[in-house]
Amino acid sequence: MIASSGGAQADGGGRRGAFVVFEGGDGAGKSTQVQLLVEALADRGVPVLRTRQPGGTPLGNALRDLVLHGDPMSARAEALLFAADKAQHVADVIEPALSAGTTVVCDRYVDSSVAYQGAGRGVGADEVERVQDWAVGGLAPDLTVVVDVTPDEGRRRRGQVHDRLEAEGEDFHAAIRTHFLDRAAAHPTRYLVVDGTPDPQAIHARVLERLEADRLIGPAT
Ligand code: TYD
Repeated sequence: MIASSGGAQADGGGRRGAFVVFEGGDGAGKSTQVQLLVEALADRGVPVLRTRQPGGTPLGNALRDLVLHGDPMSARAEALLFAADKAQHVADVIEPALSAGTTVVCDRYVDSSVAYQGAGRGVGADEVERVQDWAVGGLAPDLTVVVDVTPDEGRRRRGQVHDRLEAEGEDFHAAIRTHFLDRAAAHPTRYLVVDGTPDPQAIHARVLERLEADRLIGPAT
């Protein structure tokens, strides 16, 4: 089992990198926040890696194509393909970076599967979580930022439909939002919920503030 991150000793005896995940519904504005955080950390001289799921490895990119743009599949098959993507991504990219002391900022992670396949597809959140946790060897983020917008606002922002998940209806996206918010409310020390509607810089400032408060990054110099 791979240990959680959060300041444990890195392989070389140094500090492990922090593991920060952004979650939210389609069109919430996560990717903008990921970009702003990565730039801010790089400006502070923090070694940082930006990555995303599904994707982030050659196998992950092939799975991404299948699962987002392929033929219809069963909900369990979908959950397993997302799990395979995560397994490869953690083994090849995330864990080595954290061990080397690099902070990893990841666009979606285990909670996306629990929300989309567990709550959205109705496979069952607990079952999906067990499978995904197994796939990632138990590696948990130090902080998960949930960027929250209503399904209506998400749909308005993303415009045309880009993939199989986005194409799902109102109830599907509402279940996903509820899942993220419930999850964050149940574990406030591991989650930050930010309203995704204000100016992106204002949201970014809240994220930095929380990362500093949690000592996942040092103060700006
Ligand atoms: P993507 O194009 O990466 O867009 P974004 O993250 O900006 O919405 O789409 C990934 C889609 O895959 C998104 O609809 C959420 C979904 N997804 C799952 O259903 N399960 C998962 O485990 C992950 C990582 C993503």
